Amino acid sequence: MAKMWAGVTSGETAKIADDFNSSISFDCKMYKQDIEGSMAHAAMLGSKGIISEADAETLIEGLQGILRDLESGELKIDPDCEDIHMFVEQVLTERIGDVGKKLHTARSRNDQVALDLRLYLRSEIDEISEILKKLIVIVTEKAEAYKDTIMPGYTHLQRAQPVTFGHHLMAYTQMFLRDLDRLSDCRKRMNLSPIGSCALAGTTYQTDRGFEAEKLGFDGICMNSMDGVSDRDFALELSGALSILMMHLSRFSEEIVLWSSWEFKFIELSDAFTTGSSIMPQKKNPDMAELVRGKTGRVYGDMIGLFTVLKGLPLAYNKDMQEDKEGIFDACETVKNCLTVFSGMIESMKARPDNMLKAAQKGFINATDLADYMVKKGEAFRTAYKISGQIVAECMEKGLVLETLPLEEYKKYSPLFEEDVFDAVDLKACAEKRISEGGTSVESVEKQIAAVRALIN
Ligand code: ARG
Repeated sequence: MAKMWAGVTSGETAKIADDFNSSISFDCKMYKQDIEGSMAHAAMLGSKGIISEADAETLIEGLQGILRDLESGELKIDPDCEDIHMFVEQVLTERIGDVGKKLHTARSRNDQVALDLRLYLRSEIDEISEILKKLIVIVTEKAEAYKDTIMPGYTHLQRAQPVTFGHHLMAYTQMFLRDLDRLSDCRKRMNLSPIGSCALAGTTYQTDRGFEAEKLGFDGICMNSMDGVSDRDFALELSGALSILMMHLSRFSEEIVLWSSWEFKFIELSDAFTTGSSIMPQKKNPDMAELVRGKTGRVYGDMIGLFTVLKGLPLAYNKDMQEDKEGIFDACETVKNCLTVFSGMIESMKARPDNMLKAAQKGFINATDLADYMVKKGEAFRTAYKISGQIVAECMEKGLVLETLPLEEYKKYSPLFEEDVFDAVDLKACAEKRISEGGTSVESVEKQIAAVRALIN
């Protein structure tokens, strides 16, 4: 069939070219935004007298009918259409006759697709932000439940200093808050309307771009028509924000995988979020966490793909830009799925405080506190650090820990040691003393929890 755009060409294209050119299999996702954009456009054309008010009304009613029938399933998207824009216009013209042909006055598919994509991604940002907020609430609740559960904190994956599990969990809420912030920041720049840029140069009609922008909930319009049709920064920014978010989920996942291993056994994942092995009946595998970690690569790939598509494109629109959608759609879908599954996994996870404590008791993670004890009694930190190291070495040799080394042994190293050294190296006390802002003490974790809750609600 000859194309709607048949002009200087016959529009008689080869079937393989049609299939190659077609984007309807993926841009059909934007049907709602396409129709809403068209309704705003029709209203603007009518209000400016570019078409009659009666025609505008007919167009809007026709578009409403198409939206209704698509949502109810009565109308099916034709996979043979070139793209969603052509499909909607074609059905409209079939339904309301020649008036349908007036809809495309003073616009082009170039500004239309830029508009649809902004509207679509804007609502994805809103959806993702809501799911992310729920995850923050869940992690914060877990942190509250384990705010005084001692575990070893690590650097270089070596036991370093005692922290509470609550404190460790709250670190992730900070990452997720930054993710939320990045999403809302990206939304700000996304929320400008490109419609009215037309093919690239604007139009000779007396349009009102602000009218359309306002109707569609934008904060303003793209100021340059060539930029309006060729800018995809908003999708790049979003894919960047989503990649960072996935990186956070992936680091968290890595810890979940480690913590649920027999080597750690710091947590127990619920049966609902683990799988068994088809051959080893004892296995309880953290597949959800592993998949989230794996899918992070996929979201990075989506981002790199988009950057690469755009690199080197001359102004203004180029068909390469049709390749902008699948990657960013996939990234949004993947992030939503990962966030949802991850939330369920965290909500149903239980800690094993006994194993955490056991691990904390080995590894001399209170050696810094021993040095601090001497410093508080007047010793210079470097000297105290050295003495503390020598005491640890002796303990290792004797199979003791700082909590069990007799006071007489301590006294050999420094006259500063007294009975209260045992309070200083008590693991719980070590965590509890870290009252500095943002530190691991219960009081500080409670403050963090309150601050996060205040931001989320
Ligand atoms: N399907 C196209 C896309 O996604 C719509 C814009 C087509 N514009 C054009 N000049 N052929 O980019």
